[in-house]
Amino acid sequence: MSNFYYFWGSGDLAHRKLYPSLFRLYKSGYLKDHFAVIGTARRPWSDDYFRETVVTSLKESFKDDEKIMEDFAQHFFYQSHDVNDSEHYIALKNLAAKLDDQFDAGHNRVYYMAIAPRFFGTVAEHINSEGLKADGYNRLVIEKPFGRDLDSACELNGNISKAFPEDDIYRIDHYLGKEMIQAIPRIRANNSKFEDALNSKYVSNIQVTLAESLGVEDRGGYYETAGVLRDMVQNHIMQIIGAVASDEPEATEAKVIHKNRTALFNSLKVLSPEEVDKDFVRGQYDTDDLGEQKAYRQEDNVASDSQIETFTAGKISFDSDRWSGVPFYVRSGKRMPDKSSRIDIVFNDKVTDFGVRPNTVVTLLIEKVDGQSILINGIDYRELDQDFIELPTAESADNSREAYESLIIDILAGNRIHFTLWDELRSTWKYIDAIRQRWDSQTADFPNYISGSMGPDSSEMLLERDGNSWIWS
Ligand code: BG6
Repeated sequence: MSNFYYFWGSGDLAHRKLYPSLFRLYKSGYLKDHFAVIGTARRPWSDDYFRETVVTSLKESFKDDEKIMEDFAQHFFYQSHDVNDSEHYIALKNLAAKLDDQFDAGHNRVYYMAIAPRFFGTVAEHINSEGLKADGYNRLVIEKPFGRDLDSACELNGNISKAFPEDDIYRIDHYLGKEMIQAIPRIRANNSKFEDALNSKYVSNIQVTLAESLGVEDRGGYYETAGVLRDMVQNHIMQIIGAVASDEPEATEAKVIHKNRTALFNSLKVLSPEEVDKDFVRGQYDTDDLGEQKAYRQEDNVASDSQIETFTAGKISFDSDRWSGVPFYVRSGKRMPDKSSRIDIVFNDKVTDFGVRPNTVVTLLIEKVDGQSILINGIDYRELDQDFIELPTAESADNSREAYESLIIDILAGNRIHFTLWDELRSTWKYIDAIRQRWDSQTADFPNYISGSMGPDSSEMLLERDGNSWIWS
């Protein structure tokens, strides 16, 4: 089992996702006695204080006996740390070696970077130069954002790849840890009619919606540097498209799967400035109907004349045999009416070749709705007499692990299937940069949609122009 090194910044991600996920793995017996977690930050905390923060955060989500939480927390240690100070890395190295003996942790290390991206390179280089790597495995885990454009992503990648080979780098996109996204290759491999229809001959268009009802909450500062295009489209939406649209879903080897995804992303048709104006729209939320909610520009740490978009909708096209001519409409926004994460595959009238009604819509719900995960024309597939698509039964009972839990298992098992590889990022950044650059050269008329709405009208018009409409509306 592994000895974690864990670097963090604000600790927010740790409290919301990592501690609960590790705790679930501990309770289920996946993490047994042979592991330790070292938390590091600048603050001079004691181990006991650190453990107390862990238990306090667990109590918010779990009703378990406090004793189990206390036992779990005994695996946590704290080392105050300045990322630029070489001495501190030596202290970390010594502590890890001591804990390795104490917990019989197998000389393996996971270096989990949930810190500000500007420190990724520095920390990775120091891990290497100060000899922190142990003689088991050494895996570097990186949270997003991985760069803010192609150039900065290349620079970051250059820095970390001096210290870690690509095969040891795990770039997290938590959507790849979600049950439905992981099930898509199996659904495709197990439903040959569905898979055979998944191409330009039978598909009219594919729609990916990641809608959120919340605003930016307390993340205004970060969001001002991101916007929805970088926050959701470059990573989550692209990876969802990768799962639905890449070739050979039956492949189980990480290398083959990533090769197919890279090939798909390489075939993205990068937009010219004029095409950006036509094919992508952006929005920023205003207050709601009653004026009760804050407009984006009133949020903390947001400029009063901010040009950052909180909504986007766009049409993505691929230059490939399989998908040429099929629009992939994508949409994501804050302060929409509901939280909804879904993929709507709209078939054309030729799908009757498969004995399916013309213009059938298959919806894959990334967030289950009332326990439902696949809909056909809006109806739970289990209620319909059809053999077009279903969830593979063997695995459907598999588990309902939280995304982070399943990603941690993958990291410990050395399974890179559900992580983003550099080649994929390079192509998706190139695509996103073209849109970002065009937008940055123009002033948007913001705010342009009210909180609780479906975004600006231009989002509907984008599809109407092609004779289509959003399925989730
Ligand atoms: C994160 C974004 O990656 O994904 C957030 O930074 C967003 O802005 C979140 O709210 C959505 O994730 P989920 O799993 O709640 O759909």
